[in-house]
Amino acid sequence: MFSKNSIIGVIGSGAMGSGIAQVAASASHNVLVYDNNQNALAKAENNLKSGLQKLVEKQKISAEKQNEILSNIQFVHELTSLSSCHLIIEAIVENLEVKKSVFSELEKIVSPNCVLASNTSSLSITSIAGACAKSERVLGIHFFNPATLMPLVEIIGGIASDENIVSSAKKLIDSWEKVTVIAKDTPGFIVNRVARPFYSEALRIYEEGIADMPTIDWAMKEIGGFKMGAFELMDLIGHDVNYVVTETVWKQFYFDPKFKPALSQKRLLEAGFLGRKSGRGFYNYAPDAKIPEPKKDVELGNLIFKRILAMLINEAADTLYLNIASAADIDLAMTKGVNYPKGLLRWADELGIETVVNELNALNHFYEEDRYRTSPILKKMVNEKKKFY
Ligand SMILES: NC(=O)c1ccc[n+]([C@@H]2O[C@H](COP(=O)([O-])OP(=O)(O)OC[C@H]3O[C@@H](n4cnc5c(N)ncnc54)[C@H](O)[C@@H]3O)[C@@H](O)[C@H]2O)c1
Repeated sequence: MFSKNSIIGVIGSGAMGSGIAQVAASASHNVLVYDNNQNALAKAENNLKSGLQKLVEKQKISAEKQNEILSNIQFVHELTSLSSCHLIIEAIVENLEVKKSVFSELEKIVSPNCVLASNTSSLSITSIAGACAKSERVLGIHFFNPATLMPLVEIIGGIASDENIVSSAKKLIDSWEKVTVIAKDTPGFIVNRVARPFYSEALRIYEEGIADMPTIDWAMKEIGGFKMGAFELMDLIGHDVNYVVTETVWKQFYFDPKFKPALSQKRLLEAGFLGRKSGRGFYNYAPDAKIPEPKKDVELGNLIFKRILAMLINEAADTLYLNIASAADIDLAMTKGVNYPKGLLRWADELGIETVVNELNALNHFYEEDRYRTSPILKKMVNEKKKFY
């Protein structure tokens, strides 16, 4: 269905769209980038040029490659210029109504065989496809930020998507040197669902006063082997993004308490303390601010790490149990999409499923909250003495 000659369209030239365009152009495709904001389009073109120049200076790419990428990308000022595309990836504002109207406009412009994809992080692919007459050609192709560096791409079919189109899109993105995983069209797909407890359980531990933020971050890094702790990571992502993803996932799961957002994070958003980008989030980034020291108490650290890990494994297991993705893809998604030190299901095997279930049962018993319910698949595996791998 697709080849190197396939023309790729990208709508939206913001953070994600411009990265996706660069990835496709690096893989030798002709790429057309459209944005309805002329300034955004001009900015994307300048950023692309300066970004590639830096890569040449750092000897990451050759001058020939730089010229090839630049000559492969065209920035266009009309949506109708995308009429010759074989695949269009939409990366505009995260708003269902706006996306639907762009998709239905696109259908009037493109050929009947053109495949239409959305890079949405949190909206339903099926509902975007619902705006199209040929909904079978619509799917989700979800890159991670920055698209040029993060290897993972989630491929999501909506309920009307043609399976051949989904598998052809997967093959195409694989050929762009990305790692693809297949996910069902459910809130947060794989990564943005399975990663929720990393933040929410850390927030809960903090709100309960079991440990302070630097200690929780220290435990996850030093004992757990994670690259960053939850609070530093939320500050880096920005609370306008991280909190909103949590809230969206929670609402879309009909307010399942497992996904409930934390007030302490909402207050930061209300205060405009968005994290690093605004100089203050959970931590203060002012030049004269002191970085608070963790309490390097190994017993407390272990308690924190084991609790958060058990909740992460529980969510990964539930994602498998509900057939949202395969065990291999869930593990791949978390290691390649958010740099977890190990796949969560493999980690569960190493720890022993029974150990994880005991941890979850203890939390469930103590709190008596639905949030801590154990995934049925874990209980079943203990009974049947099974492992994920
Ligand atoms: N930023 C991330 O970390 C991230 C990661 C994965 C997926 N996503 C998803 O990718 C999409 C884009 O996110 P982003 O961070 O690049 O946003 P962004 O704000 O950086 O860029 C969006 C661009 O879309 C343009 N735009 C808005 N409405 C448009 C329209 N009707 N027609 C054409 N262009 C339009 C805007 O002018 C802007 O340049 C969203 O759906 C988001 O959920 C974001």
